[in-house]
Amino acid sequence: MVLSRRGSGSITLPTGQTLAIHTRTHDEEDLPHATKKTMADHLRKYESLFTLTPQRMRMIVEAFKETLEIGLSQPDQIVPMIPTYVFGFPTGQEQGDYLAVDLGGTNLRVCLVSVQGDGKFEITQSKYRLTEEQKQDEGQKLFDFCAESLKIFIDTNLATNGEHQLQPDELLPLGFTFSYPCLQNKIDHGELIRWTKGFGATNTEGRDVAEMFRQSLKKYNLPVVLTALINDTTGTLIASHYVNPKAKIACIFGTGCNAAYMEHVADIPKLKDLGIDGSVDMAINCEWGAFDSFAHEHLPRTKFDIIVDETSNKPGEQAFEKLISGRYLGEILRLVICELIDEGVLFLGQNTYKLEVPYVFDTAFLSLMESDPTDELLMIIGIFTHFFAVETTLAERQFFRALAKSIGKRAARLSACGIAAIVSKMGYLDEGCQVGADGSLYNKYPGFADRIHEGLFDIFGEKGRNIVTHHAEDGSGVGSAIIAAMTKARKEAGLYVEL
Ligand code: GLC
Repeated sequence: MVLSRRGSGSITLPTGQTLAIHTRTHDEEDLPHATKKTMADHLRKYESLFTLTPQRMRMIVEAFKETLEIGLSQPDQIVPMIPTYVFGFPTGQEQGDYLAVDLGGTNLRVCLVSVQGDGKFEITQSKYRLTEEQKQDEGQKLFDFCAESLKIFIDTNLATNGEHQLQPDELLPLGFTFSYPCLQNKIDHGELIRWTKGFGATNTEGRDVAEMFRQSLKKYNLPVVLTALINDTTGTLIASHYVNPKAKIACIFGTGCNAAYMEHVADIPKLKDLGIDGSVDMAINCEWGAFDSFAHEHLPRTKFDIIVDETSNKPGEQAFEKLISGRYLGEILRLVICELIDEGVLFLGQNTYKLEVPYVFDTAFLSLMESDPTDELLMIIGIFTHFFAVETTLAERQFFRALAKSIGKRAARLSACGIAAIVSKMGYLDEGCQVGADGSLYNKYPGFADRIHEGLFDIFGEKGRNIVTHHAEDGSGVGSAIIAAMTKARKEAGLYVEL
């Protein structure tokens, strides 16, 4: 038997974690690993499953466009196209200090935003990790946690020596970013249609979450007024436009996936009986993650996507999101690995129990695998040995990296389809437009933005280059504060819409 030559060392991950690694030059000889040829054959098979041709993308765009129109025409549609009661873009001159609470898919964030006009702002913030229990527990408890965190933040930052010195009897306007589909009929109200992103807190669906949060704020006796309930995409749209007036669409590619854009009220037929001036614009929170839910007619789902869906807490729902967002990509890759373990192709003779646990394969691992700069793919060795206690050959690591690329690329190309649908519906292609984008996938996944742009080129040809995504301003904090400022100004001008 050939003795393997080992080396060891450590790698610091972008997350700050340190991975111990060891390399072997002849590891293939020790364990019954798959040959290079076998892995290449498997790769071809999976690559074709995850490939999206330009023709297929154009078909998706057409169906998507139709779905957006239906959502604007009729209430209670699968893609609800939610009118947000955010009227038009900010002037850029908004000013004042605002609090923002952002209940995201992974964290709770509390911010004090000082909006300074001329596209400028300053922000002070604290972040708290949400536990899985909190996401599933009684809903009111979740809002109590938000209020309690806000209290700690106010006590620390708004005390007499803090950033903003709170005057006696002063009530600070608060923007609440609640990034789940909520039906709104005014800006400071929102009935939760359904939880997404794995949340399942009880006694919340169908209820006014702004009112629930107000109860918690009251319980903690906080010096705030909840002025606006907003979605992260709407906040991103407003914040992006505040600093860059060319931004007309906003997208989030994070734990969830969604978009918002500015629509002419006259083109929202389902609002026509409300008597709102048709010549004004209103931001629409598309909730496009729900595209193709239940019917599954348009999106190319592999058997792995079907397993992800069927084993989720909401089978059938968020069909588009489940192919794209950071919550699911790692799991899709893990399921492919598990299939190859089952078939006896991968890790024969090794104990694979650590890989068999749902959702253990973080989407961040896909980013790390794709960005591994070493010839031997040391980062990938580190991931598999450190987190899953299995040994890999170079051929297997190359396979994992290529597989990550296919899954990540499909997510970006599908994202391009959603953007293209809005662009084409609004007629932005010739004049071009900028798309403010945010979220861990967009910000951290190597090449995600380039792949979206490539996708837009494949859909529209040369003109696709007129549509450019860029890293957006922090919508959930800054956007929320600007919306609170816009709302305050509308109220002062007697323009507050109450239906
Ligand atoms: C999910 C939510 C949506 C949110 C998106 C991004 O799709 O339903 O409201 O905007 O995630 O966070």
